[in-house]
Amino acid sequence: MKAERWDDVYSFENSPFIMEILTGLRDEKTGPISFRKGLVKLGRYMAYEITKTMEIERVPVKTPLEETEGVIVRDRRSVVIITVLRAAIPLMEGLIKVLEHARVGIVSASREKAPKFEIEMNYVKIPEIKPEDTVIIADPMIATGSTLIRVLEEVKRYGKAKRYVIVGVLAAPEGIERIKKAFPEVEIFVAKVDRELNDEGYILPGLGDAGDRAFGAPVKAQ
Ligand code: URA
Repeated sequence: MKAERWDDVYSFENSPFIMEILTGLRDEKTGPISFRKGLVKLGRYMAYEITKTMEIERVPVKTPLEETEGVIVRDRRSVVIITVLRAAIPLMEGLIKVLEHARVGIVSASREKAPKFEIEMNYVKIPEIKPEDTVIIADPMIATGSTLIRVLEEVKRYGKAKRYVIVGVLAAPEGIERIKKAFPEVEIFVAKVDRELNDEGYILPGLGDAGDRAFGAPVKAQ
């Protein structure tokens, strides 16, 4: 289902199952085990939705009884998944269950403290990107969009792809606007577009810090 206001933004408010997964992720009582399981499930369903937008090929297939027509989702074989550490790890696990041929890139991106607020990328491992590839960038929370704009700039240095798709759980309208302004060609798949960002850059009503919910809050070394 396409979100009304933007081209190529897909959200799934009318999918009861995706909404049930989202409800579990939002619930503050959901612990890390169920939270990670929810992200894996959502990744899998988002991958199914993406395959609906991929090119297919009709092929002959012989059953034990006769020949008939079958389908191959050709583009499923040319996928690169970029995992933005750390909350995207379970999302990627779900995506790759459906997109099992995918080559995988891993990047870390974190925002520097005031006054610079620049995005630091300390770890970047990205495979060669080919013209037939669909590049899927997995990042659960599309908040300000700054991280994803920086990741897209980086990814584009590794070759030009056929399609660039961002997969997340929730997006804020502000983040979508910024990404679509910088990269109009990018497609966005999220369970839901939420209301807004608060002053600290959290999505409202949101689900909190996705990394902390999935893996626990980090502490400073002693
Ligand atoms: N990142 C998160 O984990 N949660 C938000 O609400 C925004 C960014």
